[in-house]
Amino acid sequence: MTGSMNTALKITIAIVTILLVTFAIGVLSGKIWWFSEEPPLMVVPDMDDQFHLKSQGEARFFADNRAQRDPIEGTLPRVGRAYPFAMGDVDSAEKYFAAGNPLPKTESVLARGQNRFNTFCSPCHNYTGTGDGLVQQKGFGNAETMNLLREQARQYSDAKIFHVISAGQNIMPAYADRISETDRWTIVHYVRELQQKAAGGLTQSNGMAATSVQSSTISKTMQ
Ligand code: HEC
Repeated sequence: MTGSMNTALKITIAIVTILLVTFAIGVLSGKIWWFSEEPPLMVVPDMDDQFHLKSQGEARFFADNRAQRDPIEGTLPRVGRAYPFAMGDVDSAEKYFAAGNPLPKTESVLARGQNRFNTFCSPCHNYTGTGDGLVQQKGFGNAETMNLLREQARQYSDAKIFHVISAGQNIMPAYADRISETDRWTIVHYVRELQQKAAGGLTQSNGMAATSVQSSTISKTMQ
């Protein structure tokens, strides 16, 4: 009787010990974690935690102290294609994109353009394109050349606006590597929309009739 109880006790102790050891290994290896917010003790770290630079941070290793590096010259995107024209090479861009915006100006294209514009452009150009976004108010650039509604910018071709977005203009950075080609064209439609709405408002307040092209586009997009 006692002998068999001893055996049962031994088996129980063995099972409990195995469970405890498994639990301890699980906790130490980071596999059991539900009760703790702390990072697990990594027995095999698998390169999960490495030295790295923060994208907007400082790095004294580089001469300009910037952690964020530009892509090495000749780097190609994995998705899409590289933008072929340099900043300021507006002539080549206008020749190449002479056909204008390849996307139709539909409601969904405009909605996408607005979404991308609000995300990427509004910090500097403001949501309305007036050029006095938060970044500008903090002293970047000047609100005059950043005003997408100004006469000069309204005269730009679609190709030129696409080119400025893709390659940048003076201190405005290039966005070809951050915004897909299709999305850049949706933004061009949206910039045109902002310009036309502003022009419509302007001519109305001047007491002049809006041109038939402008009024028909506005009424179409307002439906
Ligand atoms: C970091 C701030 C910044 C962001 C973000 C930015 N821009 Fe600009 N943009 C500028 C500045 C500054 C200028 C004026 C450059 C100059 O003086 O030639 C400019 C000029 C332009 C011009 C030419 C205006 C003119 O009259 O010559 C266009 C068009 C334009 N931006 C469109 C865009 C679009 C579309 C986006 C979003 C994809 C965008 N920008 C994002 C800063 C910015």
